[in-house]
Amino acid sequence: MVYLCQMITFILNNEKIQTDEAPGSSLLDFIRYEKGLTGTKTGCREGDCGACTVLMGTPEKGVTEYKSVVSCLTPLINAHGKHIVTIEGLNCKHLIPAQKAIVDHSATQCGFCTPGFVMSLTAASLTAEKLTAESAIASVSGNICRCTGYKTIEKAAEAVADILKDREINDPVGWLVRQGHLPEYFLSVPEMLAEIAVSVPPAEGGDYKIAGATDLMVQKAEEIRKAVVTPLNDREDLRGIRVTDGRCFIGAATTISEAMKSQELKKIIPGTASSLKLVASESVRNMATFGGNIVNASPIGDLTIMLLALDSEVILEGPEGERRVLLKDFFLGYKKTDLGKNEIIKTVAFDCKPDNALFSFEKVSKRMHLDIASVNSALRITLKEGTITQCSLSAGGVSPVPLLLHKTSRYFLGKRLSPDIIREANKIMQDEISPISDVRGSAEYKRLLLRQLMAAHFLKLFPESLNLSLDML
Ligand code: FES
Ligand code: FES
Repeated sequence: MVYLCQMITFILNNEKIQTDEAPGSSLLDFIRYEKGLTGTKTGCREGDCGACTVLMGTPEKGVTEYKSVVSCLTPLINAHGKHIVTIEGLNCKHLIPAQKAIVDHSATQCGFCTPGFVMSLTAASLTAEKLTAESAIASVSGNICRCTGYKTIEKAAEAVADILKDREINDPVGWLVRQGHLPEYFLSVPEMLAEIAVSVPPAEGGDYKIAGATDLMVQKAEEIRKAVVTPLNDREDLRGIRVTDGRCFIGAATTISEAMKSQELKKIIPGTASSLKLVASESVRNMATFGGNIVNASPIGDLTIMLLALDSEVILEGPEGERRVLLKDFFLGYKKTDLGKNEIIKTVAFDCKPDNALFSFEKVSKRMHLDIASVNSALRITLKEGTITQCSLSAGGVSPVPLLLHKTSRYFLGKRLSPDIIREANKIMQDEISPISDVRGSAEYKRLLLRQLMAAHFLKLFPESLNLSLDML
């Protein structure tokens, strides 16, 4: 083995696990091939199909908070100190609500995808938020079924919300157990988790420092499996969103789901949740982090494009201490960043002002919630008495690096909104970008897409004041 021994301890269903399996191997492989729990299926291994979905319960202030995660992209080390629940761990004497609804509505045929759907719906029933038909349907956004058809699945999701309409949201686990909707052992899980040391013994000189690892587990699964990995998820100073002196700080290990719930972010960026929803499916949003999206340096990273339009800077932590780099200067070339060898991204920060700034994020991809964008773009803009006083427009998929479009953004300053200035801005923008033809589309197509996305920002933010339709450009 190349990796140093890192003993990982967690609860799998009702069993305490202690293992020195490779910390960077996938939780999916451990569940299926070490423990023989084959209800969790292997599909795409890329986070796209949801067949491998399990629940991850994390102790938070005395209660265990559950969320759905895709086990194919979960490094085993990220299970440390958690309660992992597979479909076998939900077995009661009778069908639980998600299983019953799927049976009652004929929402399964071959059954391959069904455990994943049950896990996602059960995760939704465990949240400390009211479960609605809409949120139940949204909870399966990361699950694909190849044979049943989604209408019956949607009906099953609606039925779950109906069965659970009287659920106590302050104590979802206790309520579900009392109703016979969850096995009783769930009640003893907080005590079992409390006995596990909070962190995995640190690995000296780890090759990889990982948080959500959702991209690494796709791109470099074999390397990660053999590597010494240092988990960053448990570092409290890398998590959370705070506002200090008019500046917003997002810890690099903050997940997209956590950001969607942030009241601070909602106040600063109107429509945060709907923009973030486009980044990935729920089970991936529960794992993927801001730092990961930046450091992977994809020219079309959705969060990176949003953060560029917010004129963000990254705060890096390394052996020499901290240093700050503007995000627009962080990308040095295709997949190359200014990150030093032993540095990590600690925080990303941006100004909350101006108060009346408007924000828009747009993306074109083949699948709405699960796909890498062909082209994406974000705009933060402020108007005073009809005149543009601040503008930051970013674009992804149109150059080797994610771009803040300086010239185009500057052009808007001091102008009043009109179709003419958008037409003129498009000419400037087309000179700032250099898309190439690849699997996501031809260079011409991407140019056209970005033109439409810029227009879409304005149509969305100023539907009344702009007498503009896309074919006028
Ligand atoms: Fe498809 Fe994990 S196997 S999402
Ligand atoms: Fe066959 Fe969903 S029931 S893939």
